[in-house]
Amino acid sequence: MDKILVLDFGGQYNQLIARRVREQRVYAEIKPYNRITVDEIKATAYAGIIFTGGPNSVYDDLSPHYDPAILGLGIPILGICYGDQLLAYMAGGTVSNAENSSEYGKTIVQVDNNQLFKNIPSESICWMSHSDYISQLPENFIGIARTEKCKFAAMCDEERKLYGVQFHPEVTHSEYGNHILKNFLFEICKCKADWKMEDFIEESVEFYREKLKGKRVLLALSGGVDSSVAAVLLHKAVGDNLLCVFVDHGLLRKDEGDFVEQTFRNRFGMSLIRVNAQERFLKKLSGVTDPEHKRKIIGEEFIRVFEDESKNLGEIQVLAQGTIYPDVIESGKGDSAVIKSHHNVGGLPDVLSFDEIVEPLRELFKDEVREVGEKLGIPHELVWRQPFPGPGLAVRILGQITEEKLEILREADAIFREEIAAAHLESVANQYFAVLLDSKSVGVMGDARTYGYVAALRSVSTDDFMTAEWTRLPYEVLEKASNRITGEVRGISRVVYDITSKPPGTVEWE
Ligand code: XMP
Repeated sequence: MDKILVLDFGGQYNQLIARRVREQRVYAEIKPYNRITVDEIKATAYAGIIFTGGPNSVYDDLSPHYDPAILGLGIPILGICYGDQLLAYMAGGTVSNAENSSEYGKTIVQVDNNQLFKNIPSESICWMSHSDYISQLPENFIGIARTEKCKFAAMCDEERKLYGVQFHPEVTHSEYGNHILKNFLFEICKCKADWKMEDFIEESVEFYREKLKGKRVLLALSGGVDSSVAAVLLHKAVGDNLLCVFVDHGLLRKDEGDFVEQTFRNRFGMSLIRVNAQERFLKKLSGVTDPEHKRKIIGEEFIRVFEDESKNLGEIQVLAQGTIYPDVIESGKGDSAVIKSHHNVGGLPDVLSFDEIVEPLRELFKDEVREVGEKLGIPHELVWRQPFPGPGLAVRILGQITEEKLEILREADAIFREEIAAAHLESVANQYFAVLLDSKSVGVMGDARTYGYVAALRSVSTDDFMTAEWTRLPYEVLEKASNRITGEVRGISRVVYDITSKPPGTVEWE
């Protein structure tokens, strides 16, 4: 299998580069520039290397540099943005900075007839984001593309197969970006398109089997997609040395805790410890109404429960986490040893000490994680589970949280989800749930006056949850859900549908 090395110089789009390569069915491995030596690169026999972008200027003292011996390995290199400038600098060219040389955003680029630009029109749009530029090419290099402000928007030394582009082919704004990457992979590196997600699974399992040999690994399983996929993958690698702790805070949806337990313990035969901590959490949450306060309490209590539980498990050397790539960006570029700061339930304890932390999904995007999950045989309903906030139903019960309200909300929410499923609307509604309001309303049932809670139904359609539209659910579905909720759930006398998009509303009510 041909492998591409993505040598990471700290750019924003590094994982996207790797993903674009994987989309072409070629395996891409990302390594920070300071964690791999030229000898290691040589030993791995990569088919090609991509230097990523980065925020620095090559002349900054602290900017990332690399051993120029890499240029002599005979492995094709493509430098992107900072990677392009670094390549020029390493090969003896000059990088400059002039006030009027910056380019940001969509820019027209003219390209020459060259292997990198094979079958690409001579003029197209590319995405630029730079202030430094290559003012003088290194010896033996030629300029092969230009923009209005940038004389050398791309360069190459065809003999040594060294290529650089000042723009970002990996982002969709670059019209022919994918095509350029394809040309690099298949025309220049001569890769075969034979990588599959199964290979990722196989390689990861082998890698972790070796790396974690004889060590005990602890994983906090939430029942969400990411931690579930990480758990099954690692279980394949280390078997019973993986201990999963599932903290049931009592704020899950109807039957969710049992489903998680059943899936991982029975179906996958994992060592799963379910901690039923509902009482602990409810006690801490008693009387609390402020949403942020609720989140904080839940986060802290989660840590305490996890800590208490782990103390009984003897020595554990490794902590595994289901961090995926978007988490890595959100929490700022982290070192792999830093526990992600925005973990669903507020982070994991730093008083527990582990020799190492492993994050087997760190390089994958959500849809790739789902694909891995499917291939691992994780049940469909778990792999395609809609997002569920770490603090659970606590942020869907407005005001104080009580056992009674939790019970009422669980039933109403289950009915709404059943009706969405019955109408096959899961692909238009990306997140849908019920919320229990903190106010009561008068109703009439039979001949009697009722006075019960108000449930709000919420459904949003979105790609990224940063913005969202309220879903135009068919009236019949809303009607059926409403009838069933008021008829079947004791304690609810009125149902409303939330027609607020995001912004101005958030997806969750709290
Ligand atoms: P908002 O309400 O911010 O939600 O528009 C956007 C997405 O984030 C989820 N969400 C959370 N997830 N912990 C989480 O793990 C939280 O505290 C939290 N708050 C919101 C929400 O469900 C939606 O998918």
